[in-house]
Amino acid sequence: LDRFCFGLETQTLGRFTSTTSAIKAQTENKTAKAAKESKTFQAIQEERREQAERSVLISCPSKINEKKFLDYLSKHGTINKHFFYNSYGAYAVVEFSSRESIASLKESTNIPAVEHEAAVPFKSRLLSLKWPGSQSSNHPMPKFKVQSPPSINEISQLLSEKDSIDEQLQCLTEALELTEENVSLRFLVCSLLRDIAGAYFPECIIRPFGSTVNSFGKLGCDVDMILDLDGIYATSQKKGSGLSLEYQVKRGASERAVTQSILSVIGKCVDQFGPGCVGVQNILQARCPLVRFAHQPSGFQCDLTANNRVAMKSSELLFLYGQLDPRARHLVFSVRCWARAHSITSSIPGAWITNFSLTVMVVFFLQQRNPPILPTLDRLKELAGPSDKCVIEGNDCTIVSDLSKITLQQNTDTLEKLLQEFFEFYGNFPFNKASVNIRKGKEQTKPETTALYIQNPFETTLNISKNVNATQLERFVALCRESAWLLQQKEILNQSSDSPWGFAALLLPSVTSGAGVKSRRKRKLEPASSRIKNLLDSLKIKGGETVAKKGSA
Ligand code: CTP
Ligand code: MG
Repeated sequence: LDRFCFGLETQTLGRFTSTTSAIKAQTENKTAKAAKESKTFQAIQEERREQAERSVLISCPSKINEKKFLDYLSKHGTINKHFFYNSYGAYAVVEFSSRESIASLKESTNIPAVEHEAAVPFKSRLLSLKWPGSQSSNHPMPKFKVQSPPSINEISQLLSEKDSIDEQLQCLTEALELTEENVSLRFLVCSLLRDIAGAYFPECIIRPFGSTVNSFGKLGCDVDMILDLDGIYATSQKKGSGLSLEYQVKRGASERAVTQSILSVIGKCVDQFGPGCVGVQNILQARCPLVRFAHQPSGFQCDLTANNRVAMKSSELLFLYGQLDPRARHLVFSVRCWARAHSITSSIPGAWITNFSLTVMVVFFLQQRNPPILPTLDRLKELAGPSDKCVIEGNDCTIVSDLSKITLQQNTDTLEKLLQEFFEFYGNFPFNKASVNIRKGKEQTKPETTALYIQNPFETTLNISKNVNATQLERFVALCRESAWLLQQKEILNQSSDSPWGFAALLLPSVTSGAGVKSRRKRKLEPASSRIKNLLDSLKIKGGETVAKKGSA
């Protein structure tokens, strides 16, 4: 065992393979999740961040002897948690109970000598376990946790085994939502990057935001990150004991220019010294400047931004809505899955509706129920206590953090009813004159002529769906109408375990071109190639206009 050797990870090609056999196993660790429900958003994030700082990511042989592996690592301290996953090779995430263990482990690692190349002398927490000699395969294999979402066909199969549409929508959330392990891995990747950014800004923190933390994340979604330098500003503003340091600082023409230059050096650093970070792109001209890259050992696509506090607040807001009523999450997961199946959304930036916009549309719809299922943003502001006060760049982002202060009226609508009404609501929404406004919980007059206007919850002069063109909005409306109609057809509710019914039938290719319900149920899901063709067609209509994803509003 002493001959185990840990060395810096050499950059191996790695992306998630689609191992989806263990879909049902993803409902694990719900207890831990439930226990967290009473904590505030900030407390949950802090706890996860702290756990990630005590963790390491280890590339290891796939036939690893789990017991020996743990015995070896335990020499450096107590292990709290660990799990294995596959990403073009086996990896383990190991969380120690104390940070000293990390220091001790790092101390014992070697920087590998590479023939014809030289390694950058940077000891990260991304390690490789080199197994000396061949191994006996008499020991049990460790369980590898699935990190990728099931395919539409697998989802369809899974849902067809359920007994009601409500059960189908609950099952869909469980199959797609981020697992406890996947969230830990996301926080660990942020923490590993923090070690790199820390070379320039020792007090910085890299925090995940967006769907990693807003409770609407689906396995496989990107990791949106914020480089948080607020701690540095906070300590420099404290009044000292009379002794003050005066020094010349570099200045930028504006806050945006400073953000761009910080991201540009961090981007360079990630590119040159970030183990496993590849394809680094600086997208600094977007409305919200960012550095995009792939983190191969985790398989995550990462978007690193800076000075983006409002986006963190909107993640907290969505998290809060997700916690208030489980139907909010079920409906969001369903609508997002339905939209993806019909290429209403896309992983490529463009004139499509985004998942973020769809989530806000679901929140707005739930605010409109009678009685409302979710409160308005103005109501969440009224309920806030003095410590919740938050103003960012002139935008009042105050919302209540204590969920127990929010009282909701009794609404017993089933998910099936809500889904049906969601499609009817947006199939008939006056998009030409009205905007979606979750602050007021009422439609407002559209301030400009863009096809779809969804007010940014906190930066109220911005439209989060400015990128959406009329063609894409029309496709969304047409599909809403079609799905509303389909849900009214008795045949679609005929349960069958070998052909898609209920929600699964809504994922089948659109029939606006003429075919009836009967033939839809017999058809297999459309191949990816024809969906790509649809996407290309819609791009052609708009003359190839594309909009940077984060820079849209
Ligand atoms: N955001 C925003 N305005 C936009 C786009 C994004 O404020 N026009 C913020 C939102 O807080 C959003 C986050 O940036 O949650 C991340 O954006 P994105 O990755 O596009 O959305 P996600 O919510 O993370 O959803 P997905 O699962 O598609 O990544
Ligand atoms: Mg995202």
